[in-house]
Amino acid sequence: MEIQGSKILITGAASGIGRATAIQMARLGARLFLTDINLEGLEETSQMILRDGGQICKYKAIDISKYEDVKAFSDEIHHAFGPLDILVNVAGIALFAQIEDMAHEHWKKVIDANLWGVIHGIECFVPEMIRAKKGHVVSVSSTAGIIGLPWHTVYATTKHALVGMSEVLRYDLKKHNIGISVICPGAVATGMVDSVEIFGAKDAIEKAKTKFLKAAITPEKVADLIISAIQKKKFLVITSPDIKILFFLKRHIFPLYHIIMRFICWYMDKELKRY
Ligand SMILES: NC(=O)c1ccc[n+]([C@@H]2O[C@H](COP(=O)([O-])OP(=O)(O)OC[C@H]3O[C@@H](n4cnc5c(N)ncnc54)[C@H](O)[C@@H]3O)[C@@H](O)[C@H]2O)c1
Repeated sequence: MEIQGSKILITGAASGIGRATAIQMARLGARLFLTDINLEGLEETSQMILRDGGQICKYKAIDISKYEDVKAFSDEIHHAFGPLDILVNVAGIALFAQIEDMAHEHWKKVIDANLWGVIHGIECFVPEMIRAKKGHVVSVSSTAGIIGLPWHTVYATTKHALVGMSEVLRYDLKKHNIGISVICPGAVATGMVDSVEIFGAKDAIEKAKTKFLKAAITPEKVADLIISAIQKKKFLVITSPDIKILFFLKRHIFPLYHIIMRFICWYMDKELKRY
């Protein structure tokens, strides 16, 4: 699907991957609808795009974990502009912990944002796309959506769900001419490095973040991959070569994958000084 002239909604547009995707899509001539819970960051993104000559049809700060907020925003968009061409679900949060350190509220807040947030976008925007008989839906999952990374219990729960949901929609929505892409980034240098909650030793977390940033790619690189997935109708996009190898091992040489995963688990426990 073409980006130029398309009506595209991006969630999580105040920062990181969402902002980079919005800026790059604007340069390609998209008609943008932007949202994020962070109004200040959303306004900054909008200013950057407008200064660059891009087109923003509407932006609004909403909490995507609240169905009523997403429904009201979708009603406003459909009433004034008709169906979207492309929905890009980017917004999300991260929390890494051992299960015994997590309270019910930790499970709830990550599932509400990362899973319900995406479900709300899909249930509010996709039926209009079906009526229009065209569209594309991108959801940003994670390496944790295809690999059972240690410490990622709740995060992986949500990100695996996005991969599963996307696979079903890929087949269910083909008859309506709607394409599906699911993006699984490895480490990306974004605001998430500061906002992530990790229930480990403080000094160890700082050390781990420094290592993470050394391996990280830019959000602009992920934005490029999202755009190319839409243009080339690519379903699964894994952004890092090491994760591509690990995913290959999981599917084809499971005993080796199992040994590597046990090592990663031992290493993370040791690094985060939990056990
Ligand atoms: N940064 C990474 O290394 C990495 C790796 C894999 C996957 N991801 C995924 O990429 C996506 C984008 O993350 P990012 O790295 O750009 O981080 P980021 O923190 O820079 O951006 C996430 C944005 O989502 C918004 N958001 C969070 N909860 C929201 C809610 N309830 N309603 C509306 N907006 C909300 C935040 O305000 C923020 O602007 C996330 O889904 C994340 O899980 C990131």
